[in-house]
Amino acid sequence: MPARARKKLRAKDGETRYFRAVTGTRSIHNLTLIGFMGSGKSSVGRLTAEALRFTFLDTDTVIEARAGMTISDIFARQGEAAFRQWERKIVEELAHRTKTVIATGGGLPADPANLASLKGHSLVVCLWASPETIHRRVSGHSHRPLLNEPHPLEQIRRLLQVREPCYRQADVLVNTELRSIREVATQVVHQYHLAQAAHP
Ligand code: S3P
Repeated sequence: MPARARKKLRAKDGETRYFRAVTGTRSIHNLTLIGFMGSGKSSVGRLTAEALRFTFLDTDTVIEARAGMTISDIFARQGEAAFRQWERKIVEELAHRTKTVIATGGGLPADPANLASLKGHSLVVCLWASPETIHRRVSGHSHRPLLNEPHPLEQIRRLLQVREPCYRQADVLVNTELRSIREVATQVVHQYHLAQAAHP
């Protein structure tokens, strides 16, 4: 690793964590955003892709186009298991991509095989928000079948608790609570440049 990159990596705690997470065996040519529904993956992903001059890809959008129906319809007609199969298939295909910012569905990294595959070519960044913030961000939107529940906040807390260990396996964790979408994107781009400096 060049001395300049080493120095940068020691500069802040978050960066030190990154240094430990990304080993010398990694090959990083994409950037993947993981995190719960409403954490801002798609909005941040678009800005990040623009800044890096990468292609932006949203796994949910790809699945909807391939299946010829909305995520809600896939859940209603074929069930969640069929949707998870779609996710696995798309993740496998992503291994061939370069210079792509990938925004994933909130449940996609809960399958360890998906996360392992993504780490094979991407810096994996998790966007984090509290259950209350997520609830505020997703209320008024009905396109997420898992949250069409009488008590969505309880469902968010329950799912987040189950998924937290998966999200924590990201290379970098960015708290989105007190940051605008643009500030989060700037932070993500910065982390990607650090990763590139470490793995030229
Ligand atoms: C899901 C998240 C959704 C979508 C589907 C299931 C989940 O994507 O993939 O409704 O299991 O958390 P977003 O995280 O983009 O909302």
